[in-house]
Amino acid sequence: MDLNDHIEKILWTEQQISERVSELGSQITQDFKAGNVVPVVVGVATGAFLFLADLVRKIHLPIIVDFIRVESYGSGTVSSGQPTISFELKVDVRHKHVILVEDIVDTGSTLSCLIEYMKSKGASSISVCTLLDKPARRKVHFELVGEGKYYCGFECPDYFVVGYGLDFAEVYRNLPYVGVLKPEMYE
Ligand code: PRP
Ligand code: MN
Ligand code: MG
Repeated sequence: MDLNDHIEKILWTEQQISERVSELGSQITQDFKAGNVVPVVVGVATGAFLFLADLVRKIHLPIIVDFIRVESYGSGTVSSGQPTISFELKVDVRHKHVILVEDIVDTGSTLSCLIEYMKSKGASSISVCTLLDKPARRKVHFELVGEGKYYCGFECPDYFVVGYGLDFAEVYRNLPYVGVLKPEMYE
């Protein structure tokens, strides 16, 4: 069975994602160009790896790139609600503008945990750039810090979506588009 045959429908094509990522990169470039501190763009592993790679190439400014890892889903489709940081930052974010890059904001618990963590490390502002936001599933409220801004690629309907970094049981991250998994693939 071909990988594409695991997908019920495509929500955003490779082309649509690429166009939106360019727009987000331009917006971030505009918003951060006046600052004299180099922003730190932090990808949340593993899901954000493709979005981060594409996004940073559309930010036309000197930036620092780093990763952090937060785990909350394990191998299932439902969040445990107990996110833990399992891979630390390499760079010091003290007095820096942090842009957290996510593939998806679902309940909000991962971002809420990361914002508290970045605050505790002394970041002067905390922004979020997520490819997808699923507002229907939000449980945990989070607040940006300082002049922090919220950037979102697409509002996501309440399906279990995979591809472009998003997984089911660690699989499907390498799909170049975002789609809905056929129910028989996880039943
Ligand atoms: C997923 C996704 C986000 C988070 C969003 O990561 O990549 O990081 O869940 O969910 P929340 O808003 O309910 O916290 P996951 O924990 O599955 O790890 P992964 O990125 O390695 O897939
Ligand atoms: Mn993730
Ligand atoms: Mg996951």
